[in-house]
Formats: sequence, structure tokens, C-alpha cells
Amino acid sequence: MNSNQRTTQSDTDHYFTAQPAAQSHPEQFTVSVQGVDLILTSDRGVFSHGQLDNGTLRLLKKMELPESGDFLDLGCGYGVIGLVAAKLRPAAYVTLVDINERATRLAAANARANGISNVEVLTGDALQVLEDRQFDVILCNPPIRVGKPKLHELIEDAAQRLRPSGVLWMVIHTRQGAKTHLREMAPLFSACATVSRKWGYRVFRCEKQPEEVD
Ligand SMILES: C[S@@+](CC[C@H](N)C(=O)[O-])C[C@H]1O[C@@H](n2cnc3c(N)ncnc32)[C@H](O)[C@@H]1O
Repeated sequence: MNSNQRTTQSDTDHYFTAQPAAQSHPEQFTVSVQGVDLILTSDRGVFSHGQLDNGTLRLLKKMELPESGDFLDLGCGYGVIGLVAAKLRPAAYVTLVDINERATRLAAANARANGISNVEVLTGDALQVLEDRQFDVILCNPPIRVGKPKLHELIEDAAQRLRPSGVLWMVIHTRQGAKTHLREMAPLFSACATVSRKWGYRVFRCEKQPEEVD
């Protein structure tokens, strides 16, 4: 979960429900990373209210993106990862998806507020609403709290949605079983590596098999 101390337990208890019960209390803050500046609105009942999560920051600092292609922000919350990627790579098209309706309303509003148009925002379970979309890059600070079976379904589905040579970037805290998750997901990819370890967060880069040529 979010390790930043400012976020209270009640803010984040139900961050992955479709309709959070917490009373709305929007808060704005700025994010500057990889030369991209965004003004973002977050809210109670959405992951990491009021400030950027440290794990998300680690992922944003380490992710490497191609100039163009189809990107996915899996479990987008208020949209920070997908919106940084979309602003960094204007020739890319970024799909943001989250099961939490309050989160996706914020993600869409944050895209508009920052003048970012190379995005689409989908609401619902990623296993259902992504339909037949395929991606070149998937970016994810995963919902560890949904439990291991569901999390692994989401990761398996993500691996299947990657095109040949596509890359999944994921951040998990060591205390949340990062090493075990990496070991279990590695067989889904042709190569998986930990590219960064800092503040207890591990950033993984997992690549799909390249296209076979005769
Ligand atoms: C750890 S949070 C990361 C949020 C955001 N990407 C960030 O870094 O601030 C994980 C997100 O996954 C979402 N989520 C949980 N289960 C999901 C599912 N089945 N499909 C899509 N999103 C889901 C949660 O609602 C939550 O917003």
C-alpha cells in the first residue's frame, strides 16, 4: 500500500472498490518527474490521496518508453502514471483503466486539466473492459490489497496483452512480497529483471518474447 505517512488508513481502505464510501474531499498537488510537470487532483477513496505515492515515484523515475505505441496504465488511480507517459510521448496512445469510478473520473479530469489528449480512460475491472486491446508498454503500481489470486490474474492478463517485445514495468515494495511476485511472474515473460531497488521499492522490467522470424 501507499507508504507515504500523510495518507490515512480510512482514505485508502477501499481504494479498489467501484464506488468508494469515503466522503469526497478533492485535493490538488503538483508532480514534476522526467521533465514533465502536472497539476493533479486526487480525492479520498482513491489511492494515495493528496500526494504522489513513493512507489509510483520510483516507477515514474525508472520507466523507459518508446517514442510511440500503445501504452496501458493498469490500475491508474487518478491517472498520474498514464498522464506522465502520455505527456512524455505525444506520439503514443495511452489507455488508463481502473475499477474505481471516482479514480477514473479524476484521471479523465486530470487529462483535460493538463491539456493531454492522447489518452482514453476506461472504468471497470481490467480483466473485462480492455476487450481485445494489445499494448507495447504496460505500466503498473499494482493493487496488492486485492489478494494474490486476483493480482496474478491481472498480471497474467497483462502479459497476454503485450505484443512481441512489449514491456511491463511494475513496482512492488519488498514488504509486499516483491521478490516472490517477481519469481512467480517471470515464467510469463522471456526476460524479467529488477532494475531498481530504493526505499524498499523494487521496480521490475519484464519483456515479452520477440516476434519469431523464419
Ligand atoms: C496501488 S494503486 C495505484 C494507483 C495509481 N496507478 C498510482 O500509482 O497512484 C492500484 C489501483 O488499481 C486499481 N484496481 C484494483 N483492482 C483493479 C481491477 N480489477 N481492474 C482495474 N483496476 C483495479 C485500484 O482501484 C487502484 O487505483
